[in-house]
Amino acid sequence: METKKKIKFKINRLYHFFFKERFNKKINFSFPENINRWDLIKEIITFKKFKTYLELGCDDNNSFNKINIDFKIGVDPFSGGNFKGTSDFFFSQNKKTFDCIFIDGLHEYDQVCRDIQNSLDFLNVGGIILLHDTLPNTLHQQAVPRYKMIWNGDVWKAIVNFRTRLDCDIITCKIDQGVSLIQKNSNKKLLNLKIKDFKKLKFKDFYENHEEYMRILSYEGVLKYISDSSN
Ligand SMILES: C[S@@+](CC[C@H](N)C(=O)[O-])C[C@H]1O[C@@H](n2cnc3c(N)ncnc32)[C@H](O)[C@@H]1O
Repeated sequence: METKKKIKFKINRLYHFFFKERFNKKINFSFPENINRWDLIKEIITFKKFKTYLELGCDDNNSFNKINIDFKIGVDPFSGGNFKGTSDFFFSQNKKTFDCIFIDGLHEYDQVCRDIQNSLDFLNVGGIILLHDTLPNTLHQQAVPRYKMIWNGDVWKAIVNFRTRLDCDIITCKIDQGVSLIQKNSNKKLLNLKIKDFKKLKFKDFYENHEEYMRILSYEGVLKYISDSSN
């Protein structure tokens, strides 16, 4: 890691320790080693016969290159995909709608909420939105501002927020650091929380309530849910 980044991470860590949260307990999600985010995306695309795919945040195209579909757009301001720019810029000029949208860009609460809302606005009827990195094991892995290389960010807080809405049905698949799925359907398991600012949730809240907050299912459970909700 370059020196500038190392110093920034150290400062962020101290900031977190003194002003945000101290919490040492860890969750051990024990994700299966042989199932990746793209396996789930590909399975869903095949099962639902989807034709169009949008990925926000592509990096080395580890997922993007594996998606075989009639039409795909990959958005990233720095690397990968086929549209150079931020997700906000992409949506500001976009006129297309998509069957499947994979949100994996900037993993910070406000950005993720905007990415979800924009994706809902550009999702075809019957479409599915997926989000990566929704199940952090530790406080460090979810801390914003970031101070770890392996980082989920606080994407989970955006999921908690949207789980309280009546017009989205959301589940989370226990694979590959957590992949949450959003369908524009009536909420089958409304999360009844009286929280004003979801951004202020702590990792301690996640540690104690993650099963209820995230509606976690196994890979097989998610495939069954998709099949059942398509009938
Ligand atoms: C975790 S990586 C994506 C990994 C990829 N989706 C995969 O499955 O392998 C996150 C990417 O998001 C990109 N990114 C950062 N800010 C963004 C933004 N505002 N809009 C879109 N992408 C962004 C970064 O450049 C980085 O390449």
